[in-house]
Amino acid sequence: MKSIGLDTSGKMIVKGPQKAKGTLTVSGAKNAVLPIMGASLLTDDDIDLRNVPDLADVRTMIEILESAGKVIERFDDQLIIKSSGNINSEIPYEPVRKMRASFNVYGPLTLRNGYAKVALPGGCSIGARPVDFHLEGLKKLGIESTIEHGFVTSKLNNPNSFINISLPFPSVGATEHVLTTACLLEGVKTTITNCAIEPEVTDLVNFLNKMGAKITGGGTSILKIEGVKKLSGVKYTIIPDRIEAGTYIILGKLVGEKLTIKNVSAEHLNSLFSVFDNIGSPVDYDEKKREVKVSETLLNPLNSISMETAPFPGFPTDLQPQITTFLSLVPGRSTITETVFKSRFYHIDELNRMGAKIRVEDNTAIIEGVNKLSGAPVEATDLRAAAALLIAGLVAEGETIISNVDHIFRGYENIHEKLEQVGIELIYEK
Ligand code: EPZ
Repeated sequence: MKSIGLDTSGKMIVKGPQKAKGTLTVSGAKNAVLPIMGASLLTDDDIDLRNVPDLADVRTMIEILESAGKVIERFDDQLIIKSSGNINSEIPYEPVRKMRASFNVYGPLTLRNGYAKVALPGGCSIGARPVDFHLEGLKKLGIESTIEHGFVTSKLNNPNSFINISLPFPSVGATEHVLTTACLLEGVKTTITNCAIEPEVTDLVNFLNKMGAKITGGGTSILKIEGVKKLSGVKYTIIPDRIEAGTYIILGKLVGEKLTIKNVSAEHLNSLFSVFDNIGSPVDYDEKKREVKVSETLLNPLNSISMETAPFPGFPTDLQPQITTFLSLVPGRSTITETVFKSRFYHIDELNRMGAKIRVEDNTAIIEGVNKLSGAPVEATDLRAAAALLIAGLVAEGETIISNVDHIFRGYENIHEKLEQVGIELIYEK
């Protein structure tokens, strides 16, 4: 597959309605592998990661680690991260512009070299995404930051022996950044409260502990870290991607015909399962096989619902655009309140171009269910909006042309091939 920059200009032509039948398998989690790759900067030993998805964002993180001095080998879903013997603490603007998660190398690089200079992440189409919680937390760890010319430069001071950090909001990124950095503050005891407890955060905690970190409280909103002198190399397997799984389950509920989705962790998707329970279309999950069997459900009597997004274990904001597409075809009035990224509604106008009836008031989408969508030219503004429009195109009558579709390659491994495998025809044009 050709390399993917941030040039999102490709377009996908979807002729609907189509049926998806057969089996597809969920890949490793993007939002787990990125912070875990960043944490590899804490050691010079080899890190051997398995179940690593081939995504544009993973390639960007590889670019960043290579510019920081790492040597990376890739074999299918295995990634081996080695040291070149030196660490460069200055990360250019381009990769950070492409992917915000790259900012999380700032703390680890500061610990390795006593300073770091990383571009400040810019704006994002899903809403304001400042890094003030990150910088506040790092400051408590003794890392002073200066922002100048679009870069943040750090200076490492001697930290206190006991540090308490309370996050104003259970931010995934800030929790991961502060936690990763605190691991290598030898002898320092750090307590972080109001942490994010997303499964990807817990995967990072498990990875760091396997490297020799001393973290307790994984999976809870209070993390206690006792800093150590050195962390060692490990072999580690990344968890499955619950957002990819959720996206395919929603797709299956609209166009599935006994579609089987393998490698699904139900414990990571209870919120989605309960939403479908409330809608009156329970998800058929086989615990032993860790797979979901799903078929089109619109012909069944369904309930309109009111729901909201929230940090885990709440309903993930990264499935909000996709469930909006689903609810746009459920009779009655449904509402979705977006509490994490309050202006994450750029997919709404595009869905309305396809015949949906949705309006936004403050951070709530009010959806009047319609009985069909029609194909139209639409534009994707971000990764999950692209997925929502692809699903809409598959159920709509006629042709949908999704421009700026390359966003989708940031978070869905081989989506074209996987959907082709279950009988879906897509035309991708650059
Ligand atoms: C992570 O982003 C995910 N990205 C996002 O997934 C996901 O939407 C988000 O968590 C919420 O679940 C990765 O893991 C790489 P946050 P992150 O810090 O860490 C505010 C996808 O599609 N905030 O939890 O950036 C922020 O503005 C992506 O895969 C501050 O105000 O999200 C937001 O309103 C999109 N100051 C809220 O907190 C800060 O310093 C939650 O953001 C940090 C965050």
